[in-house]
Amino acid sequence: MKFFIDTANIAQIKEANDLGILDGVTTNPSLMAHEGITGVENIKKHYVEICKIVNGDVSAEVISTDFDNIIREGEELAKLHKNIVVKVPMIKDGIKAIKFLTSKGIKTNCTLVFSAGQAILAAKAGATYVSPFLGRLDDVGTAGDGVALVDQIVKIYRTYNYKTQVLAASIRSPEHIIKCAEVGADVVTSPLASILGLLKHPLTDVGLEKFLADYRKGNQ
Ligand code: G3P
Repeated sequence: MKFFIDTANIAQIKEANDLGILDGVTTNPSLMAHEGITGVENIKKHYVEICKIVNGDVSAEVISTDFDNIIREGEELAKLHKNIVVKVPMIKDGIKAIKFLTSKGIKTNCTLVFSAGQAILAAKAGATYVSPFLGRLDDVGTAGDGVALVDQIVKIYRTYNYKTQVLAASIRSPEHIIKCAEVGADVVTSPLASILGLLKHPLTDVGLEKFLADYRKGNQ
């Protein structure tokens, strides 16, 4: 399973990358706004900066919602760096645009996916990635609904040998990451806190403390 970080924060991207386990980055307009990145040229510069840090796919989201402008924006974003993946919303024109961009050899990430039906359309259009939003589904339903959707999409894609990679998004906890691994997600994109949360187990802390205390006793 590939690990992407879901942020536009440069310090956090560097910290995750320094761990040596980072395979890519996803961003969205909210994450860019959260970092105070505004204006088309600044936004483009920011994507290039991220691409220089991480050797892996970097999702850059279009803000247009009609076919012609999604294509125009997508082509401009794709020109910024070879690792840019054009993130396109799951809407009618988005699906048409994914089909078009794919035919031009441009990688895409179909975002805002909340159902298996939407995921089937994304795969049929040739998306490189499909992004089901786990956390937001759990928020409006029951905990576990998000993972159940990832499981369903993975099963459908395997049945039909769809090439689209399942990129589990809207991750809220380390447990979400583990559950996604269990059901066979290709990629998980999560905030830094959830990635770092995977490091933690109380018995590791207690065990390490004892190892070090015992070493100190014999090596005063
Ligand atoms: O990048 C898309 C997705 O991961 C957003 O997550 O936490 O805003 O639901 P969240």
